[in-house]
Amino acid sequence: MYVHVPFCLKKCFYCDFYSVPYSKTKTQTYIKYLEREIQEFKKLIANRKVNTLYLGGGTPNSITEEDFQKIYQNIYDNFNLDLQEFTVEINPGAGLSPEFLKNIGVNRISIGIQSLNNKSLNSIGRVHNADDAINCLKKYSKYFDNLSCDLMLGIPYQTKGDITYFIDRVAEYIKHISVYMLEVPQNSKLKSMINSGLKVASEDELADLYIFTSNELKKYKFKQYEISNFSLPSYQSKHNLMYWSYMDYIGLGPTACSKIGNIRYANTNDFYYKKEFQELSKNEMENEFIMLSLRLSTGLNLEIFKEIFGANFLDKYSNKLKPIEQYFDVDNSFIKIKSEYLIFENSLLVELLDF
Ligand SMILES: C[S@@+](CC[C@H](N)C(=O)[O-])C[C@H]1O[C@@H](n2cnc3c(N)ncnc32)[C@H](O)[C@@H]1O
Ligand code: SF4
Repeated sequence: MYVHVPFCLKKCFYCDFYSVPYSKTKTQTYIKYLEREIQEFKKLIANRKVNTLYLGGGTPNSITEEDFQKIYQNIYDNFNLDLQEFTVEINPGAGLSPEFLKNIGVNRISIGIQSLNNKSLNSIGRVHNADDAINCLKKYSKYFDNLSCDLMLGIPYQTKGDITYFIDRVAEYIKHISVYMLEVPQNSKLKSMINSGLKVASEDELADLYIFTSNELKKYKFKQYEISNFSLPSYQSKHNLMYWSYMDYIGLGPTACSKIGNIRYANTNDFYYKKEFQELSKNEMENEFIMLSLRLSTGLNLEIFKEIFGANFLDKYSNKLKPIEQYFDVDNSFIKIKSEYLIFENSLLVELLDF
C-alpha cells in the first residue's frame, strides 16, 4: 500500500510530483479525503493482507505527528496489516522525530539527500544544505538500521568528485540507495533556468555519470537490483519489488495508482482528487509485466510469464529479440538485460513491444 502525502515546504525546481505548500487546514481536508478513499478500498480488498506500507510524497515529514498518527490509525483500523516493511520518505529540511516514527512501527526510512554540494542543492531549490542532510542521516541511523537515500545525477555544478564524496559520506549509514538521473519537466522552474543558461548534464554525460556511480557503489558492496536502485544484500525495497513483480497494490491520495487484478485505478492530479479506472486488456498487462520485470537485474521470470500469459516468452518474441539479443542474458528461467545496458531499457522496449 502506498500513501501519497501531497505537501512540501517548498517546491524543488525540478520536481513534477504532485504537491502543494504545507498548511494545517489543507492537511485536515486531505485526511478527510483519505478516510473516504480508505472506506472504498476496504470493501475491495477485504480478505487480503497488506504486506508493505510506503508513505511517500511530497514530503510526509512536513505534517505534524498528530496528523501522521491519524493517517496511520485509519489505515491500521481498516486494513488487515501484516507489515514486513513500513517505509517513510523524509526530507532533511522538514520535521517528524525518528522516535515517533519508530514507535508507530516504521522500519525503513528513505531520505531525499540528492547531493552534498551546497551550490548544487541551492541551484535546484532544496530547502536543506549538506550539513542538514548528514545530521539527518546521523539522527535517523540511531533509530533505524534500514536507511536509504536518494542521489540525483546530472544536476547543476555536479562533478564526479561530488558523487564520490557523496557515496563516501553516506555509505556508513545506509543500506540502500536510489540513484536518479535528472529529468527536466517542461514548465518547471529548472527548465526556464536552463533556458537562461544554467548547465545540466547532457544525455551522454548522464549515462557516463550513471556508470561511474554504479562503479563507485560497488566499492561499498552495493549491488544493483533495479535500474535506479542499489542495496546491500537482503536490503532491497520489498515495497518497490512488489511493483516490479507486477503484484497487486493500492495507492491512496492524489495521483496515486492502484492495480487490483486487471483493474487499474488512478487518482487525478489535484487536491480534491477523483478516482478513474480502466480495465486492462491482456495485451496491456503483458506489456506492463515485461516493462516492469525487465527493470530488475534478475529480469523476467519465464515460468511466471507462461503461467500468467499462457505463452513461451522466448518463442513469442523471438523475431523482435533477434536483432537486440546481444543486450540480453537468458538462462533456463529468466531473461534479463545485461547490467551495463539496463540504463537503456526504454530503447530496448521500443524494439520489443508494440505500444
Ligand atoms: C518524490 S521525491 C520524494 C522525496 C522527498 N520529497 C524529498 O525530495 O526529499 C522522490 C525522489 O525522486 C527524485 N526526483 C524527483 N524529481 C526528479 C526529477 N525531475 N529528476 C530526477 N529525479 C527526481 C528525487 O531524488 C527525490 O528524492
Ligand atoms: S521535496 Fe521532494 S516531492 Fe517536494 S518538491 Fe522537492 S523533490 Fe518534489
